[in-house]
Amino acid sequence: MIIFITSFLTLINCDCIPYGVRLSLGHYYSTLNDINNYITLTFNSQNICLDYVVQIINPISINNIQVNDYKLLNMTDIYKESQNAIHYQTYIYDVKLGQFNGLFEGNQYTFIIYWENAIVAGPFYFQIPSKSLNYSSKFIIMGDLDSNWNLNTSKETFDWFTNQINKTMFYDGIIYLGDMAYDLEDDNCQVGDNFLRNISLFTSHFPFMLTFGNHDKGQNEEFVYIRQSFATPRISDYDNSIKYNDFYSFQVGHAYFVQFHPYKIAYGNKDETYFNYTLYQMESELRRIRQHENTSWLIVYNHYPFYCSNPDDGFCEDHYKKMKLFEDIFIKYNVDLCLAGHQHTYERDEPLAYNKIAQFDKYENNIYTNPKAPIYIVEGAAGNDEIMPKDIYPPKFYTKFQAAGDGLGILEIKNETHLYFEHRMSINDSVVDYFWILKTKVIPDDDDTDKNSISIWIWILIGIVVLLLIGFIVYCLLKKKQKKTYDEFI
Ligand SMILES: *[C@@H]1O[C@H](CO)[C@@H](O)[C@H](O)[C@H]1NC(C)=O
Ligand SMILES: *[C@@H]1O[C@H](CO)[C@@H](O)[C@H](O)[C@H]1NC(C)=O
Ligand SMILES: *[C@@H]1O[C@H](CO)[C@@H](O)[C@H](O)[C@H]1NC(C)=O
Ligand SMILES: *[C@@H]1O[C@H](CO)[C@@H](O)[C@H](O)[C@H]1NC(C)=O
Ligand SMILES: *[C@@H]1O[C@H](CO)[C@@H](O)[C@H](O)[C@H]1NC(C)=O
Ligand SMILES: *[C@@H]1O[C@H](CO)[C@@H](O)[C@H](O)[C@H]1NC(C)=O
Ligand SMILES: *[C@@H]1O[C@H](CO)[C@@H](O)[C@H](O)[C@H]1NC(C)=O
Ligand SMILES: *[C@@H]1O[C@H](CO)[C@@H](O)[C@H](O)[C@H]1NC(C)=O
Ligand SMILES: *[C@@H]1O[C@H](CO)[C@@H](O)[C@H](O)[C@H]1NC(C)=O
Repeated sequence: MIIFITSFLTLINCDCIPYGVRLSLGHYYSTLNDINNYITLTFNSQNICLDYVVQIINPISINNIQVNDYKLLNMTDIYKESQNAIHYQTYIYDVKLGQFNGLFEGNQYTFIIYWENAIVAGPFYFQIPSKSLNYSSKFIIMGDLDSNWNLNTSKETFDWFTNQINKTMFYDGIIYLGDMAYDLEDDNCQVGDNFLRNISLFTSHFPFMLTFGNHDKGQNEEFVYIRQSFATPRISDYDNSIKYNDFYSFQVGHAYFVQFHPYKIAYGNKDETYFNYTLYQMESELRRIRQHENTSWLIVYNHYPFYCSNPDDGFCEDHYKKMKLFEDIFIKYNVDLCLAGHQHTYERDEPLAYNKIAQFDKYENNIYTNPKAPIYIVEGAAGNDEIMPKDIYPPKFYTKFQAAGDGLGILEIKNETHLYFEHRMSINDSVVDYFWILKTKVIPDDDDTDKNSISIWIWILIGIVVLLLIGFIVYCLLKKKQKKTYDEFI
């Protein structure tokens, strides 16, 4: 009997052990500027477990947050009418951390999760990025990662993270470029469930800012599992009049990041309403940022590369043509970097405009000075069993550098004028490629038509002034002559 009771308790206990602990940047960094949501902490449990306590520790105080809100993700119900029945349910807890929990931007903290007075997760260290323009930020850039470990393809990247955490490295976030787990909803969502458990190694320390890839869509193209499982600072969280809730943007230091999700466009589905709305969201946001924000750097990311070198993938042939209207506005609003995954390699391209190398003042010692169009990066090499090319692809005319094998990028926004990017191999942390973007003038030139129209007005103005002056002189001379004649006459 005693044995029975103990094992019963252990069972309950097990169901209440949180898993998939993950952080994401909250609505402080979106336009909502909500100081009570710097970070959203998300975790799962197998059962409904009330009264979790999240404890936030800093050198001078300890704050406890009682957690009683949860949502049920019932995949069984979502697919109950479908032919691909799934049997899976999990409970998800979203906890907003902010100033009312005694947190302040730019500071570092530790959190622990308690249940029934026992530590059930943590301690985990983390930091709150700052929006202050003097803040230098540092992000990890990666995509296309699984954790199936049949072939151990992603193991090097997990080991890399273990090392970073062992050294207490801080990052402001992970920009995750789509495709995860391979695939989230496979095997009754067990693949996704294991993935959440596995990545909490690093998502419990570094806010995870994702975009959705084609492998993340699930059984019916609705992206249900990923949408419910990961928090992002979507405006639609607060404003439910927004039609499609896939778009978000956020600011840290001198950088503005804009995420979009053009799955239906990439896969040729001619959903014009969707295309128009996504384009409209992108254009309004880029215009707003350039007109009303004082940030220097504009970085756009999604899963599908506009440019890439894989000769066997149609995307690398003509995706930029499908995305031309987006490229128009990236150029118009001076986007600096475009990040994507999808290809399972690393690739850095020249600054590009409409499949041509764009102008820049100079390129010397891996430093681009004032490029006139975005630089395109593919970071899809974090590691997965689907396919990891052994070698790089034949370079295109715009391919600046490629690397095959597990790796990830580090992006550092140093200040208003200096952006740094490097690609590291997961296996030995060696930097195999790097570059800087340097802006000598932070406010970009107006485009040429504007400049011409301004100078035409100036010339017209000068012309009018000169004419008036000549008129005035002639008038004075005539007047003088008249007076003289008059004087002579007298
Ligand atoms: C999940 O959905 C299935 C199918 O609709 C239902 O039978 C089950 O009771 C639901 N689970 C919970 C916990 O509500
Ligand atoms: C950056 O600016 C903030 C105020 O905006 C100030 O509190 C902070 O000390 C500054 N940090 C540095 C490193 O100058
Ligand atoms: C994967 O790694 C594990 C743990 O290091 C090891 O036991 C296993 O043999 C490896 N599998 C392969 C296919 O290399
Ligand atoms: C962490 O680093 C210490 C030395 O600083 C080392 O002894 C330990 O094995 C490392 N742990 C992991 C998991 O890498
Ligand atoms: C990932 O999940 C699988 C299945 O639970 C497990 O076998 C593997 O050890 C996990 N890997 C890590 C790094 O935790
Ligand atoms: C999408 O935009 C184009 C160009 O502005 C317009 O011609 C078309 O009617 C729009 N389609 C829809 C469905 O709104
Ligand atoms: C941008 O800078 C101007 C001038 O310093 C300031 O008035 C304005 O509030 C700033 N805008 C933002 C969004 O910080
Ligand atoms: C910006 O950062 C670069 C690289 O760290 C540094 O050399 C430069 O002096 C900084 N500029 C300003 C204005 O702080
Ligand atoms: C790191 O690993 C890469 C990929 O295997 C290799 O090309 C490089 O030479 C290694 N660098 C060092 C310093 O060991």
